[in-house]
This record gives sequence, C-alpha cells and structure tokens, in this order.
Amino acid sequence: MYTGLRAAAAAAATLSSGLLIPLYINPVGGPDCSGWAPLLSTITAHPAVPFWTIINPNSGPGDPNTQAGPEYQQCIPQLLDKPNVVVLGYVATFEADPSHQARVTTDIDTYNGWAVAYRPDGIFFDQVSGHTADFTAYQTFTSHASSLFSFVALNPGSAPQDIAYYSLANLLLTAENFYDQFNPSQLSLNSSTPASKQAVVLHDGPSTPPTSLISQLITTDDIKAFYVTDDVQANNQNPYDMLPTDLESFVTAIEAAASA
Ligand SMILES: *[C@@H]1O[C@H](CO)[C@@H](O)[C@H](O)[C@H]1NC(C)=O
Repeated sequence: MYTGLRAAAAAAATLSSGLLIPLYINPVGGPDCSGWAPLLSTITAHPAVPFWTIINPNSGPGDPNTQAGPEYQQCIPQLLDKPNVVVLGYVATFEADPSHQARVTTDIDTYNGWAVAYRPDGIFFDQVSGHTADFTAYQTFTSHASSLFSFVALNPGSAPQDIAYYSLANLLLTAENFYDQFNPSQLSLNSSTPASKQAVVLHDGPSTPPTSLISQLITTDDIKAFYVTDDVQANNQNPYDMLPTDLESFVTAIEAAASA
C-alpha cells in the first residue's frame, strides 16, 4: 500500500480548514492539463491551505478493473505532486440500494487497481442515505475503502439522520445545496457531530467570495472544508462541470478566515 507516504504529504497544509472541490471536470490532458489549470495554480499559490479534490471520470472510475483514461493518467499526478492535496475518487452509492452494492465495491477496487502514479488517496462516497437502516451497508463500504486508502468521505447532502455515520469517515458533506437555500444554523455542531469532520458545498452562488458566510463557517464554526461556486444547477445542469469564475479570490478568502 501507498497510504503512509501520501497521508504524511497531505499534512503539509498547515491550516486546519480548506476546500472540498467536486472536480467533475475533464482535465483535458496535455502538459498543462488545461481543464484543471486554474485549480492547479491556485493550489500551488496557497500551500498552507488543504484541498480535498474529488475526481470523477465517469460517475465513478469507469469500467470495472480498467485503468484511468489517458488524460487522467496525465493529470492526476499533477494533483498528487502537491503536498497540500488529498485526491478522492468518486463512488456513487445509490442510497445503499441493494441492486447497486456490488458495483460500489467494484468501483473501490477499480480505483485501488490504478497505478501508483495516479491512484487516489481516498474514496468519496456520494448519494449516502444517512439512515439507520442502511448503516451496515455503509459500514461495509467504508471499511473496505479504509483497508485500501488513507481517507474516506461521505456525502449524505445534509446532516445524516443517524449520527453513527460520523464514526465511518474522515469527512462528511453535511450541506450540499443552492447557495440561497443554505444557512449556517442548519449545521449541527457538537462533540458527536464535530465541525472538524464537516464540509459544506454550495452552488448557484455569487461570483465574488461571500466573506461573512466564509467567516462564520471557517473562523467561527471551524468546519473542515467549504466550497461555493457560481456554476449552476438550475434546469438540472451539473454545477460542478466548471470551476468558480474567481476561484483564486475565494481561496484567498478561505485562507484569511482559516488564519484569523
Ligand atoms: C449533537 O447533535 C445531534 C444532532 O442534532 C444530536 O442527535 C446529538 O444528540 C448531539 N450530541 C451531543 C453530545 O450534544
């Protein structure tokens, strides 16, 4: 396994809060990986800020037991090269629907089979139910992932109905929403639902950093990761297929709030 080395590397980010980025964008490839270029340069410019980036070649890694496509083989190493990045592979879990459970395990194994040069550091489980009835299924998924990778994230999209889910992951996305439908008071922050394990991701947001919200979430609440994009989901579009217009200002604002 490769986990020790990368886990140590991610610790190079000295701030405790940073960004969780759904990077559902084709890197395009080529020497500059133009699809990811603005992100790559922002990460380099902010070495103290931790970035958890979720790669998602095809609603998951692609066909079972295949290697990453050539553009991912070329560009994931550019993320892994940066000491303040953790790379997570996207896995859909379909709310633990039994007919999809075998595929969840297969997707984890497919990422695990990728060559070390572009193998992710961890797994991001999407479409997590958060219900007590599904806890055993998620325990199975996350224990398999933890046996192979150093980082596990879950996305229930809102606070999990059962707080036992906090025991399964390093990070939980407890609010994924339209920017104007989110209020920090929706988060439950206490010793069994710690801010240090929570991330918030908002879309259809403003094009300039919402500084008072950033200050509340990062400086006051001390949540682990925040992301807001002006990319839109209105009319069922994918809100994560472009980077925010002004990613650099947004990262600068997060860094200032995390340093305050
Ligand atoms: C923390 O918040 C959750 C959700 O609101 C609640 O179920 C739990 O009892 C709280 N735990 C503590 C220790 O206050």
